[in-house]
Amino acid sequence: MGIQNKLCSLCHIYLPIILLSLGIHVALASDTIFTGQSLTGNQTLTSQGGTFELGFFKPGNSAYYYLGIWYKQVPVPTVVWVANREEPLLNTSSELQLSEDGNLVLLNQFKIPIWSTNSSSSTPNSIVAVLLDTGNLALRDGSNSSEIIWQSFEHPTDTWLPHGSLGMNKVTGKVQVLSSWINQENPSPGLFTEVINKDGAGEFYLVWNRTQIYWRSGIWNGQIFPNVAEMTPSYFFKFSYVSNEKENYFTYTVDDSSVLTRYVVEYGQGKQFMWVNDTQKWLLLFSRPNDPCDANSICGSFGTCNKKILPICECLYGFEPSSPKDWNLSDWSGGCVRKTSLQCGHEDGFLKMPDMYMPTQNLTVGSAKECESACIRNCSCSAYSYGGGCSIWSGGLQNLKQLSLGDNNGTVIYIRLATSDLPTFKGKNKKVLTIVIVVASVCSLALLGIILLLIWSKRLVGPSSAVQGSLVPYKYKDLQIVTNNFSAKLGAGCFGSVFKGELSDSSPIAVKMLEGFRQGEKEFRAEVSTLGTVQHVNLVRLRGFCSEGTKRLLVYDHMPFGSLDIHLFGKNSKTLEWKMRYQIALGTARGLAYLHEECRNCIIHCDIKPENILLDVGFCPKVADFGLAKLFGHDFSRVLTTVRGTRGYLAPEWISGVAITSKADVYSYGMMLFEIMSGRRNLDLAKDGKFDFFPTTVASRLNNHEEVISLLDSKLEGNFDEDQVTRACNIACWCIQEGEMNRPSMGYVVQVLEGVIEVGIPPVPLYLQNLVDNLGRERDDMECSGESSLVTE
Ligand SMILES: *[C@@H]1O[C@H](CO)[C@@H](O)[C@H](O)[C@H]1NC(C)=O
Ligand SMILES: *[C@@H]1O[C@H](CO)[C@@H](O)[C@H](O)[C@H]1NC(C)=O
Ligand SMILES: *[C@@H]1O[C@H](CO)[C@@H](O)[C@H](O)[C@H]1NC(C)=O
Ligand SMILES: *[C@@H]1O[C@H](CO)[C@@H](O)[C@H](O)[C@H]1NC(C)=O
Ligand SMILES: *[C@@H]1O[C@H](CO)[C@@H](O)[C@H](O)[C@H]1NC(C)=O
Ligand SMILES: *[C@@H]1O[C@H](CO)[C@@H](O)[C@H](O)[C@H]1NC(C)=O
Ligand SMILES: *[C@@H]1O[C@H](CO)[C@@H](O)[C@H](O)[C@H]1NC(C)=O
Ligand SMILES: *[C@@H]1O[C@H](CO)[C@@H](O)[C@H](O)[C@H]1NC(C)=O
Ligand SMILES: *[C@@H]1O[C@H](CO)[C@@H](O)[C@H](O)[C@H]1NC(C)=O
Ligand SMILES: *[C@@H]1O[C@H](CO)[C@@H](O)[C@H](O)[C@H]1NC(C)=O
Repeated sequence: MGIQNKLCSLCHIYLPIILLSLGIHVALASDTIFTGQSLTGNQTLTSQGGTFELGFFKPGNSAYYYLGIWYKQVPVPTVVWVANREEPLLNTSSELQLSEDGNLVLLNQFKIPIWSTNSSSSTPNSIVAVLLDTGNLALRDGSNSSEIIWQSFEHPTDTWLPHGSLGMNKVTGKVQVLSSWINQENPSPGLFTEVINKDGAGEFYLVWNRTQIYWRSGIWNGQIFPNVAEMTPSYFFKFSYVSNEKENYFTYTVDDSSVLTRYVVEYGQGKQFMWVNDTQKWLLLFSRPNDPCDANSICGSFGTCNKKILPICECLYGFEPSSPKDWNLSDWSGGCVRKTSLQCGHEDGFLKMPDMYMPTQNLTVGSAKECESACIRNCSCSAYSYGGGCSIWSGGLQNLKQLSLGDNNGTVIYIRLATSDLPTFKGKNKKVLTIVIVVASVCSLALLGIILLLIWSKRLVGPSSAVQGSLVPYKYKDLQIVTNNFSAKLGAGCFGSVFKGELSDSSPIAVKMLEGFRQGEKEFRAEVSTLGTVQHVNLVRLRGFCSEGTKRLLVYDHMPFGSLDIHLFGKNSKTLEWKMRYQIALGTARGLAYLHEECRNCIIHCDIKPENILLDVGFCPKVADFGLAKLFGHDFSRVLTTVRGTRGYLAPEWISGVAITSKADVYSYGMMLFEIMSGRRNLDLAKDGKFDFFPTTVASRLNNHEEVISLLDSKLEGNFDEDQVTRACNIACWCIQEGEMNRPSMGYVVQVLEGVIEVGIPPVPLYLQNLVDNLGRERDDMECSGESSLVTE
């Protein structure tokens, strides 16, 4: 009964039998199954346009096989439909057969039917099963292709494809349901489903456990769903709603049929994806609810959800996953269980958790104290909160959300725990421990507590914009995941290596792994929390950090255009136009001025050089690695003064050993400004063993405009603004004056570059030649080489 024989007898030109006997994975190269034929083992159907493929597959590390449809050309396995969701197959000796009664039947290895299309037709002998290029598997009359008996589009699993419909049959009352997989290895229907409003209104619901609606699209107004603005007609989707006596349903198409897009219910969210060929990835177009934590009970009982961290679910302190295996597969619905069961009575205590969100109820109880004792008195009470009214929860706590500091509406929740599970319990008489501990999101528990306090106290005083997107404490293992186990190295230097990563929301990040870091946990926390409050358009944003054991990592936004040195000195890079250069010089000055003068604690960068100026899309400069000097303390200056490449930017006071002030940055900035103008390293101009130090050359010619112009980067080909060149030359030369007092502040530099104030011609810094000679001599005993910054690949 092999399909190949049948095919041959039917004179179809398909299957190369030889290949099959060689055991090579073989596609049927056909989109059709005829009566009596079957599909087994490695055989597949391919839709006519080659978009979809149908066959047996094994999801992830699962032990089971399923019959499904997936994208043939998408290298990321993406299953859009599964026949036997709840009836897994043990091996591929199973068969999909088009039986004589015109039904597709799935037989397991013992030839027992486990799934069938269950349809009836008046002409069963002429039925064919066709995999269409829309991803629809259709049973239709062989002589009249518009006579469709059964189609997979009417029985969707978790995915809704273009041309498919989602709605209900008003006569039979049968509703089409999209239901999430239980987990990525088990396609059985999970807890989250999406259905149309059963009362006949044109609206979708996301439903938990078949009963509880937790999201509504809003009623279709002919143009849009009120709660899904992305599905507007101007977008590339075309939605239509059909409602008559028999049925009502939605269907959609996309303008460009070559675009692969799918809507899928996944982990409690409805998500629309589009395949992007360039990146070879699914791009998320939108998701609803927006916040994955708004999916009902996504983390189960006693789990907390934090959208900023992967995985989004964590167990509350004192709890552990009820099923580590499911938890591992991102199925958190089983929730968490107590490590130690409650004593019930006065042996229990409370853990204070600030910044939590949970739907509240209101009890009329007088005071916080009474609220607490109301909870302690009732054995089934598992938590309370008191904020005006008293809320008491019994049994499993669900929908707990860990909010970030930016979200203003968190409440304090007191979780009841057995005393032995309470953290750092000190006194036996204390019933309530007011130790701030947030579990969901920490590398180290105590660590975040202190940072919360620090940032929080700053927040109350400082402007609220300063804490936009507060620092996220990451777990080391999460950073391992998002950086693909630190596989993509962006750069390495004396203070550590930098790796590229990608967060769950696709934001690119750069993870800096600090090395040789001797500072203790406490100092690290304090410094990092200060850095978290430093935000400026010309500073690289610090997103978060990790401090676990001896590991110290900082997580930054990744800057796709790399660092300035690549664009200035790189052999293969496009010439930076003068306008860009000036914009970069000005932006960098602004970032530094902010560090020096505007943020709460003056931060001296100490390592300004082109490698530490990163460029984002649009060449907006962002100063990187600020704050490292303070973080590393003495180690920093020790390493810095011995690093090759940094020397040319170091102010003389670094070498003479007097205290470093922000004027050291001004000096380095001046040196860099010369390089921005010349397009060459100040120090790389050595010829015949003699240093021709660019800044000295410029400084000595400032009186002669033409000569200065002749020193500019020849790659500019004479395209520049003369007034800007004069300003830049003058200010750069002021910046590199030997005496700190003679150097301007960064704020002053900004004003000069902005053209707000004029600056005179500076004295020629004569000490420079001396310095250059010294540098030449010391050149060979520099120990640490390489870039110490976030350099793009
Ligand atoms: C199916 O494919 C796998 C790997 O491609 C191969 O090891 C196996 O022998 C094939 N089975 C059959 C029945 O062709
Ligand atoms: C599948 O299981 C059946 C029954 O256990 C066995 O006879 C058959 O050889 C198996 N097929 C494969 C491909 O493992
Ligand atoms: C097919 O019909 C039979 C009997 O009517 C029923 O038991 C079975 O669940 C149906 N199967 C499917 C896949 O609908
Ligand atoms: C084919 O089927 C469609 C839908 O059932 C029907 O409207 C049409 O008349 C049929 N055409 C022929 C030639 O039978
Ligand atoms: C879902 O609902 C069923 C009954 O409606 C109940 O037995 C089951 O425990 C619920 N599942 C969860 C995870 O609460
Ligand atoms: C997709 O990209 C691959 C290379 O990444 C290329 O060979 C192929 O032609 C592209 N396909 C389309 C449809 O652009
Ligand atoms: C969870 O997954 C990791 C790797 O993905 C594995 O090492 C670990 O054993 C798994 N734990 C459980 C309980 O399955
Ligand atoms: C304890 O709390 C539960 C749930 O709120 C409530 O049903 C029960 O009556 C309470 N028991 C006492 C003794 O108050
Ligand atoms: C709870 O009660 C307090 C005091 O009566 C009131 O201010 C608050 O708005 C109520 N909250 C809710 C959610 O009903
Ligand atoms: C409070 O937090 C909840 C949960 O994150 C959110 O749904 C709600 O919109 C917030 N309210 C305000 C006023 O920010």
